[in-house]
Amino acid sequence: METISLPKTNDRVALYAALTPQLRELLGEERDPIAAMANMAAALHQTFGWHWIGFYRVMGAELVLGPFQGPVACARIAHGRGVCGTAWAEERTLIVPDVDKFPGHIACSALSRSEIVVPCLDSDGRVAAVLDIDSERPDDFSVIDAHALEHLCEILQPLLG
Ligand code: SME
Repeated sequence: METISLPKTNDRVALYAALTPQLRELLGEERDPIAAMANMAAALHQTFGWHWIGFYRVMGAELVLGPFQGPVACARIAHGRGVCGTAWAEERTLIVPDVDKFPGHIACSALSRSEIVVPCLDSDGRVAAVLDIDSERPDDFSVIDAHALEHLCEILQPLLG
């Protein structure tokens, strides 16, 4: 049985510390990037319960919606557009404490108040996908999330080509 066991705490450092090795184990044998992204999105949803957690994959000049947990979302985002397209273009993690203050933010859901987007690199160091997480709470993400989520994305790196 595939399960994730988590400590009963709201402490994110403790939750990431418990989750990361279990995801490494769970995804260790997987070779298909979609399957791995799907389980990573599900594990993050189980652990943190955020409003929307998902991947957009780089396909030509656009990001295309990949595995996610949450309400339906926009399927395609152009390079440099929105938080996701900007994180792709700038090749860095973006933390947006207040989505209403991010110029060009793409509002897939009116409930989203803050957001983090982490680029996922392929084996050549190119952005192959982005991990996008939306929270209903303002200012919900910090460098703790950025570092932990960047480590999780590194698990995907060998699968991304
Ligand atoms: N808000 C994102 C778009 C994707 S949805 O939040 C799922 C953005 O501005 O890129």
